[in-house]
Amino acid sequence: MHDDPYGLGRWGDDLFEVLDNGDLGLRNPERPDLPAVSLPSIVRDLDQRGVVAPVLIRFAPFLHSRIDTLNESFGRAIGETGYGGTYQSIYPVKVNQQADVIDRIVEHGASWNLGLEVGSKPELLIALSRDLSDGSLIVCNGVKDDDFVQLAISAQNIGVSCVIVLESLGELDVVLRVAERLGERPLLGVRIKLTQKSSGSWASSSGDRSAFGVGASDLMVIVERLREAGMLDCLELQHSHIGSQIPNVNEIRSATSEAARFFVALRQQGAPLSYFDLGGGLGVDYTGEHRSAAHSTNYTLSEYCVNVVETVEYVLDAAGESHPTLITESGRAIVASSSILVFDVLEATYYDRTERIEHQPDDHPLLKNLIHIHDYIDVDRLQECVSDAEYYRNELRQNFRRGLLSLEQLARSEEGFLTVIRRLKQLARTADSVDEGVEKLLAQHVDIYHGNLSVFQSLPDTWAIDQIHPVLPIQRLDEAPTRRAIVSDTTCDSDGKIDRFVTAHGVSESLPVHDLVPGERYHLGVFLVGAYQETLGDLHNLFGDTNVVTVGLLENGDFELLAETEGDTIAEVLSYVEYDPRVCLDSFKKRVDAAVDAGRIDAAGRRTLISTFRHSLSSYTYFEH
Ligand SMILES: Cc1ncc(COP(=O)(O)O)c(C=O)c1O
Repeated sequence: MHDDPYGLGRWGDDLFEVLDNGDLGLRNPERPDLPAVSLPSIVRDLDQRGVVAPVLIRFAPFLHSRIDTLNESFGRAIGETGYGGTYQSIYPVKVNQQADVIDRIVEHGASWNLGLEVGSKPELLIALSRDLSDGSLIVCNGVKDDDFVQLAISAQNIGVSCVIVLESLGELDVVLRVAERLGERPLLGVRIKLTQKSSGSWASSSGDRSAFGVGASDLMVIVERLREAGMLDCLELQHSHIGSQIPNVNEIRSATSEAARFFVALRQQGAPLSYFDLGGGLGVDYTGEHRSAAHSTNYTLSEYCVNVVETVEYVLDAAGESHPTLITESGRAIVASSSILVFDVLEATYYDRTERIEHQPDDHPLLKNLIHIHDYIDVDRLQECVSDAEYYRNELRQNFRRGLLSLEQLARSEEGFLTVIRRLKQLARTADSVDEGVEKLLAQHVDIYHGNLSVFQSLPDTWAIDQIHPVLPIQRLDEAPTRRAIVSDTTCDSDGKIDRFVTAHGVSESLPVHDLVPGERYHLGVFLVGAYQETLGDLHNLFGDTNVVTVGLLENGDFELLAETEGDTIAEVLSYVEYDPRVCLDSFKKRVDAAVDAGRIDAAGRRTLISTFRHSLSSYTYFEH
């Protein structure tokens, strides 16, 4: 067995280890001296408390350590390069707006003067109502109406520094109008549309085609109009953002360099810029491949920091400009690792059979041929055997469709086919190399593990943008996985599946898994899901929010439950789609009473039916054991 079949060592960032009993252990990055805590034991404990799977577990220490590491890395880069300014991180609220997450980020980030970036009025209200540290900023992007601008300008009167980032010429009109009405001076930023394009998932909306920010000509108009209004000195921040999850460090370097050139030019126009905000983009190496590809990055955090700092320093020094406060709005890199989704496997559809079936005298000749493959199956004849098995099975199916094969014979054919596939999979595992075509064909016959989750609710990016998140069993990691599977979810949608996985050798279309043991729960964990997934999730098939807990790790190797949010009940999801659960219950009662009147069920039957309906309304939307 490969001793790291899930590539943990490559993407796990030293946060995980396999414990002696095969459980996945979570290390406390804030206290590396403490033993790792078993994730399955946390899941069991939660289950006993009634917090059942699927459950999203947020690990406070992972979140804290990412905030610290980001700030420390920039601090080191600044120290090493002799950069004259400081660094300040701004967390973009949109990446995970859940109150418990935001509050922990704000609280833990206070010592770093961490601020918040908002992209809408609701997000602004969140930011304004948080207890941010005195030195921190709120950076306002997105569309801004009068109320938005008024709140942002007047926030200064209560000691909150709220930078209104101008995204368009139209927005300047709103800001000038509201500022004049209030008789106050705003704290302004301007968002530059960089021409540098990014690769990765959002390549097509980067560069000139970006919907956000202003290009050089609109920028000049903004500068002139601010000058005329006597407000050019309010322009303190320059913003740019080339996209999220930038895989290639050179794109970051080029974007930083271009942004720095704009910065110099704006200062030369008379804007007293003191903040250089580079937006988000710091990627997460989801696959651990460490290369420039959509779900990976070809740089480390410290390389990112050094590159950004050095580039800004180089451009500003060449122009003789002083060094501003550097800001990044890294969201994904802060929150991704802190959430783990754990779900149980309800059952498996195995695409092979252990028992070889024996040929019977009245078997169809094609079935006889199919069974006969076992007589010549060999590691050197994989391709031939795969082709034969596919051919005979197809012919037998054709015969059934034409009425030439009985249902019993079709069933034996399917069984026979699966016994051959099992043998072929075993042989393929022992082969030095397997032909790509054979591998592809065998990959079509991997098992399906039915997971108690909704991909659309909990992992929407997996469906929408083919995002890859590492998935692995959280127990039995001391046992070699004997099967390969994809994961299907509980929605009735064929897209509700996970079929790309991180494995020892990169990305694979199937996940190494263990045989399910009857009566034993088998939990899979999906990792690095803290960014974007919770809010983007939807109610497909009315599977609602999962249970969510925030967990801390204690000195004695135990864990503590810091917060719990119960998942949606059925009554709640019904009300989201315009049903009144009470009215549903009353209508159901009427139907049941009509059945009692018609003598179809008795009073006791009525009672059972109605209490089951009522109980279901208050229950979890997922499969309950
Ligand atoms: C303006 C802005 N800042 C920050 C971010 C966060 O980016 P990331 O999650 O890649 O750090 C985004 C997301 O795209 C954004 O639009």
